[in-house]
Amino acid sequence: MTMSWLLHCELRWWLRLLIALLATIVLPVSHSRFVGSWMNLGLQGFEVWRNPQIYLIGAQPLCTQIQGLSPGQTKLCQLYQDHMGTVGRGARTGIHECQWQFRHRRWNCSTVDDSTVFGPVLKIPSREAGFAHAIASAGVVHSVSRACRDGRLSTCGCSRARRPKDLNKEWIWGGCGDNIEYGYKFTQGFVDVREREKNFKRGSSEQGRQLMNLHNNEAGRRAVIRKTRVTCKCHGVSGSCSLITCWQQLAPFRETGDFLKEKYDGATEVKINRRGKLQVKFAQFNVPTAEDLVYLEDSPDYCTRSNVSLGTTGRYCNKTSLGMDGCGLLCCGRGYNSQKVTLQERCHCKFHWCCYVECKVCTKVVDMHTCK
Ligand SMILES: *[C@@H]1O[C@H](CO)[C@@H](O)[C@H](O)[C@H]1NC(C)=O
Ligand SMILES: *[C@@H]1O[C@H](CO)[C@@H](O)[C@H](O)[C@H]1NC(C)=O
Ligand SMILES: *[C@@H]1O[C@H](CO)[C@@H](O)[C@H](O)[C@H]1NC(C)=O
Repeated sequence: MTMSWLLHCELRWWLRLLIALLATIVLPVSHSRFVGSWMNLGLQGFEVWRNPQIYLIGAQPLCTQIQGLSPGQTKLCQLYQDHMGTVGRGARTGIHECQWQFRHRRWNCSTVDDSTVFGPVLKIPSREAGFAHAIASAGVVHSVSRACRDGRLSTCGCSRARRPKDLNKEWIWGGCGDNIEYGYKFTQGFVDVREREKNFKRGSSEQGRQLMNLHNNEAGRRAVIRKTRVTCKCHGVSGSCSLITCWQQLAPFRETGDFLKEKYDGATEVKINRRGKLQVKFAQFNVPTAEDLVYLEDSPDYCTRSNVSLGTTGRYCNKTSLGMDGCGLLCCGRGYNSQKVTLQERCHCKFHWCCYVECKVCTKVVDMHTCK
C-alpha cells in the first residue's frame, strides 16, 4: 500500500483542525500541567459516551469532565463531539489488545482506577510505555476508520483511496472501504496534539519523552496501515463471478497487535542529543524506521511489588513451559504454590436430528500454579 494518500488532503476537515490547533496556541492555557492520560477516554470516557444523559445533568460540558485530556484535546473533543465515543472505543480496543498480548508477561498491561490508566509505570520511558502508546493510537485509527465506513461520523464516509495500480483491470474498485486516510489524520491530530502543545528545553529529558511518544504514536498508526489490505467480492448470477468489486479493508485488530508486539520485541533504545533529536543509543544498532518502536530507558523490575509495579505474586503460571509464561520466569525464581481446582465442562456431546446438541457435564481436576 502506498503512502501517497497521506498527501491527499480533505481540505475542510484540515481547516477545522488548523483552527483548533491555532486555538490551542493563541488562547491562554488554563491548566498548563495536566495529569493523566488521554487513554482514559477508553475507561472513563467510554462510560460517559455510552450514557451521556447521566453526565449532561451537571452544567459542565462532557469534554471537560473527562480527566486526562490536554487543553488541546479538550478543544478537539468539543469540536468533534460525535467522534469521541468512537475514539474511546478505539482506546479501549487498544488497551484490551495490550492485555491480551502481555497476558503471560511480568508486566501484563493491567490498568488502575484513575486517569493515568496504566498507573505510574508509564512515567518511565520504557519499551512498555512505547508499546502502550502505539497500541492505543492504533486502536483509535482502527475505530475511526471503521466508523467512517459505517456512516457513524458526520465528517467522513467511505474511503476515497485511489485504485491500487496492480489491481486486475477487469475488477471494479468501488465498494465502501474503511477510511484509513481519515482515521490516520484524525488520530494524528487528536493524539499528538498533547505532545505538540508543550515546549521543553531542547535536549532535555522531557523533550526526549515527547519525541519518544510522538514516534511511537506514529508507529502505532502505521501498523494499522501496514495491515490494511484490498478485499474483493464476487457478484453475478448464482456465483458466476462475472463481476468483482474491491475495496480497502482493515485487518482484524489482532493482526495489528501481533505486528506491534514484534516491534516491541525489537524496539530500539534511543537517547536525546543536544540538538534535540533522538538518536540510537548504541551505534551498532540500526536507525529505527517510522514503523519501529523506540524507548529511552530500561524497564523497571516487574518482579516485585513497588511504586511502579504490582509484582507477579499470585499470577497463574505454567509449570511445564520454559517461556515467559512458565513458573520459572514469571515467578522470577521465587517458586510457586500449587492447588487442585475443579473445573466443569461440557462433554460427550451428541447431535440429535434435527436440530439440537445434548451434552453432559464432566468435572475435571487440574493443577493450578500461582507465583509465590
Ligand atoms: C519510585 O520510587 C523510587 C525510589 O524508590 C523513585 O526513585 C522513583 O522516582 C519512583 N517512581 C515513580 C514513578 O514514582
Ligand atoms: C495482571 O496481574 C495482576 C497481578 O500482578 C493481576 O491482579 C491482574 O488481574 C492482571 N491483569 C490482567 C489484565 O491480566
Ligand atoms: C503449558 O506449556 C506447555 C509447553 O509450552 C504447553 O504445551 C501447554 O499447553 C501449556 N498449558 C497451558 C494450560 O497453557
